[in-house]
Amino acid sequence: MRLRWCVLLAFLLLGVGVGWFLGWLPWDPLASASAPATPQGAGEQAGEQATQVTRVKQRRGGLALTLLAVADTHIGFGAPEIPGRDPLIEPMGIERTNLAMIDSMNTIAGMNYPAPLGGRVQTPRALLVAGDLTEVGGQEQWRLWTRIFGLTGKEGALKFPVFEGAGNHDRNKNWHVREQVAKRHGGRFYHFDLGDLRLICLDEGPDDTGLKVLAEALAGVAADVPVIVYFHYPLLGPYSDDHWFGRGDYRQRLARTLQNRRVLGIFHGHYHSTGAYRWQGLDVYNVGSPKHGHKSYAVVEVSDHSMKVAAYDYVQKQWIWWHRKPLTPQGPEERIGVAPDLDPELRPDFDLGGVKTEPPWKRE
Ligand SMILES: [Fe+2]
Repeated sequence: MRLRWCVLLAFLLLGVGVGWFLGWLPWDPLASASAPATPQGAGEQAGEQATQVTRVKQRRGGLALTLLAVADTHIGFGAPEIPGRDPLIEPMGIERTNLAMIDSMNTIAGMNYPAPLGGRVQTPRALLVAGDLTEVGGQEQWRLWTRIFGLTGKEGALKFPVFEGAGNHDRNKNWHVREQVAKRHGGRFYHFDLGDLRLICLDEGPDDTGLKVLAEALAGVAADVPVIVYFHYPLLGPYSDDHWFGRGDYRQRLARTLQNRRVLGIFHGHYHSTGAYRWQGLDVYNVGSPKHGHKSYAVVEVSDHSMKVAAYDYVQKQWIWWHRKPLTPQGPEERIGVAPDLDPELRPDFDLGGVKTEPPWKRE
């Protein structure tokens, strides 16, 4: 009699298991593994859809990460091509500014954040570079770029790993820079994880292929996994619509694909300014360039409950603007600011949460 009950119970449990597996039961424990990048039923409004989802990353907590971000390094600008020259020994033109910037990045750990944010900068884990790595692209400028920035933090002047994407300048000569970025990172559009955070590089901007890669990268994480996206072109304001990315429907498709995801920020470059703004409900940070006046980079700190982004000018040795925001109800109060009494040349292109400054040049 007891044996009969055991067999019955075994069949019952097996039935429940098969029900789960085939998705018959409403409380499907595998639901997140097949979750689309955007909610079901969004119809025409849906963003790009992922077709291949293998494993879904779950958030574990305990995130404590510092990153740096910059754009438009323009290696090659102001330097004649002298084959075989080592830019670390004989720097020329914009290489000097890049090396001063890297020196600052290598030693930024321990510095106090702007007073309203509090805390000290921790050792950065990675540098993101949002395009226009070189002035015109090609083999020689790419050689110089990799000699200066390296890859893992051991090959060049930079002391931590670099994750770069290409910009419009990088294709002036040919596609060499893009091909090499793809070789180093697995694609010109690619993603990687640092702890809980998923970082997605979308090259100059997401075209059809980029949007597809973005959808796959988002489908590969649970909805509460924090995401940072970076690419070259701006989304709003100056120089945001005078190129293929701005003229097409890519921005609308990007917005739809990012909808309802935990996007902490979008980082970009292109017009050699620095600042921040809100686009489609998302915070967007323009991160400075060694070319022209805004010689700053962004320092980013992400934890489970908050995010800080602050622009540091390594020539003037001062913070230019900052943003701290809560990511959960336990996070700190939001703080947004721009340094007072800035030299007009250093004024950022900033419009976030009621804090607004305009750079000295005319906006379009
Ligand atoms: Fe540029």
